[in-house]
Amino acid sequence: MASTRDGVNWPRAQALAAAERASYIARNPESARLAGQAAQHLLFGVPMHWMNDWSTPFALTVSEASGARFRDADGHEYIDFCLGDTGAMFGHAPQPVAQAIARQAARGYTAMLPSEDSAPVAAELARRFGLPYWQFALSASDANRFVLRWLRAATGRSKVLVFNGCYHGTVDDVFVDLVDGVPTQRDSLLGQVHKLTDHTVVVEFNDLPALEAALKQGDIACVLAEPVMTNIGMVLPQPGYWEAAQRLIKRHGSLLVIDETHTISSGPGGYAQAHGMRPDALVVGKPIGGGIPCAVYGFTEELARRVEQAKRSAPPGHSGVGTTLSANMFAMAAMRANLEQVMTEDVYRHMFALAAQLAEGLRAVIAGHKLPWCVTQIGARTEFQFTPTAPQNGTQAQAILDGELEQIIHLYLLNRGLLITPFHNMLLVCPDTDENDVARLLSTFEECIKALLLN
Ligand SMILES: Cc1ncc(COP(=O)(O)O)c(C=O)c1O
Repeated sequence: MASTRDGVNWPRAQALAAAERASYIARNPESARLAGQAAQHLLFGVPMHWMNDWSTPFALTVSEASGARFRDADGHEYIDFCLGDTGAMFGHAPQPVAQAIARQAARGYTAMLPSEDSAPVAAELARRFGLPYWQFALSASDANRFVLRWLRAATGRSKVLVFNGCYHGTVDDVFVDLVDGVPTQRDSLLGQVHKLTDHTVVVEFNDLPALEAALKQGDIACVLAEPVMTNIGMVLPQPGYWEAAQRLIKRHGSLLVIDETHTISSGPGGYAQAHGMRPDALVVGKPIGGGIPCAVYGFTEELARRVEQAKRSAPPGHSGVGTTLSANMFAMAAMRANLEQVMTEDVYRHMFALAAQLAEGLRAVIAGHKLPWCVTQIGARTEFQFTPTAPQNGTQAQAILDGELEQIIHLYLLNRGLLITPFHNMLLVCPDTDENDVARLLSTFEECIKALLLN
């Protein structure tokens, strides 16, 4: 009997990995040439060091992208289910955004002053997310950083509470994990000289007693959370969890910040609107401007007053909030077009139907081959995980990650013109994805499973 791992024939999987790597190298001579050239002047040979962490032997170079598809430097076409890990969740270069930024291209990019798009964008954000006051940043990382700063200043409390296994961008404060139940600064974080555990509290998601015990100390400015964890594999809230958690947060004088950067896949107003949550602050980055760098954060009326008071009572000078290019005219034009014309109810309906087709299809393939895997779907976002029952917290989700197996499956799909998100098994559909694209993903996924199971 062959040795198995996550239900697959492991020697067979390793042989498949070698064959797929050889096939990638043979298929992509131009990407290989460009990677060689890039190695001369790019640190690690790529514009961002983590671009080396994909399943490919060298980075795939993209030459153009439109809708649900992109083309690489060797001329292969791909159906994109990664979509820039949500940055292109509404398709590559969505037409209304492309037109708006083309218009803006001849009318200026940045002036450190509001453009005519600022007020309509804020009004639309208020309508859609149910929070009346908004500010802007260039990335979700920055938006989260600024929100933490505002909320610490507004509450006079120093601590932030996060959930074990979370990711909110490169916000140093939140790189604290539970290791054997002990809050521990993440070893991989480079160049951090402050002791993050002094001001960051970490508990498991879905653990109400742990949340209450932490909040009771009375020193937590805010809880920063994705409403569904998405970055360590998906972890859904248990029924009733957020209702109870919100009551606890309020009772102990803390604030709730919901980071919808990924869960904006749940609907035009994000997961919070779709599920009746009432956060004090909300952050969305990545796709909010159709992929143009920008992010937004909003406050309730009450929190906005406290934030304004904190600023007014501080001495004049740098606040630590904002960057020169934030809220620039270009980003504002992109957000306006994206919010008004792309992120519509109709578009979400289309994406939900396709994601349901995708999730059901993945479940059928997994069940058909008796694999001990499961599938979770949140709106347009679907993920398969190497476990028979979905994880309930970060520790469980971490334990089931298998980077080696993920990479074999990802490379198999990529060599056949299908891209899914690296670092876990997430697939997004966009307004331009169609039923045939999903059907092709499903049939190729099944071929891959068969190749992994062959005895
Ligand atoms: C939930 C969440 N928040 C924030 C971020 C940071 O986004 P960015 O890298 O665009 O700053 C990410 C990135 O993956 C994310 O998943």
